[in-house]
Amino acid sequence: MDEAPGQCSAAYTPGVTHASTADRGRFITIEGPEGAGKTTQASRLETYLRAREVPVVATREPGGTALGERIRGLVLAPTGVPIDPLADAFLFNAARRQLVGEVIEPALAAGTTVICARFADSTRAYQGSGGGLSLDDLRRLEEIATDGLEPDLTILLDVPVEVGLARKAPADRTRFETSYDLAFHRRVRDGFLRMAVAEPGRFVVLDATAPADAIATRIERAVGRLLGFTRVPSEPKRPETRIPR
Ligand code: TMP
Repeated sequence: MDEAPGQCSAAYTPGVTHASTADRGRFITIEGPEGAGKTTQASRLETYLRAREVPVVATREPGGTALGERIRGLVLAPTGVPIDPLADAFLFNAARRQLVGEVIEPALAAGTTVICARFADSTRAYQGSGGGLSLDDLRRLEEIATDGLEPDLTILLDVPVEVGLARKAPADRTRFETSYDLAFHRRVRDGFLRMAVAEPGRFVVLDATAPADAIATRIERAVGRLLGFTRVPSEPKRPETRIPR
């Protein structure tokens, strides 16, 4: 039945609810500064999981939905006009909200593993550490956009900024490569590394200057441990500590 004008309760996107069942899928993000190889490694991981018949969805930020891809076009296009980092943060979080509601949360609820190239840590690193916004403000925005969804595992592909930036072909350079200096990108890298130190249980930090095959193997090991299909080597026994009298 049609609702009378003014009494409409239409929802434009599905609400985000976190199922609390044991068969919920796992949420894996791949983060890092420019030119770290996230896209390559996300796609290799997807292939690896598919070969093991793990139901998987691979997506990216900003993007992954029709709205998100349009926002991606807006935020990445080189422009001569400076953009306020807070305006950026809202745009990235708008794309994130749509992605979480339309793709990530339904997949996780259906037991599917989700691989996402970049997620909220990128806003903290770029608009927070790089752009100078308060991390507390960004966390509040993020909480609203994601309903508190956090990755189960974050692979941080770490690369010195000069190395990463040099990997980008001129035609692939976005606003973040053309409008921001080395100091900005160094703050971004440091921001990621600080997050990894603060949350050692979530982050696995890998040297992204290593050969792609070696990085892929390390990612497979970390993901295998998360999904429970790799034997986790037991901790080496610590030598007994003698307390000196
Ligand atoms: P990428 O897909 O090549 O990683 O490009 C995305 C760009 O957008 C990259 O320069 C990082 C930037 N970015 C932010 O500044 N904040 C964000 O929240 C996200 C997701 C990306």
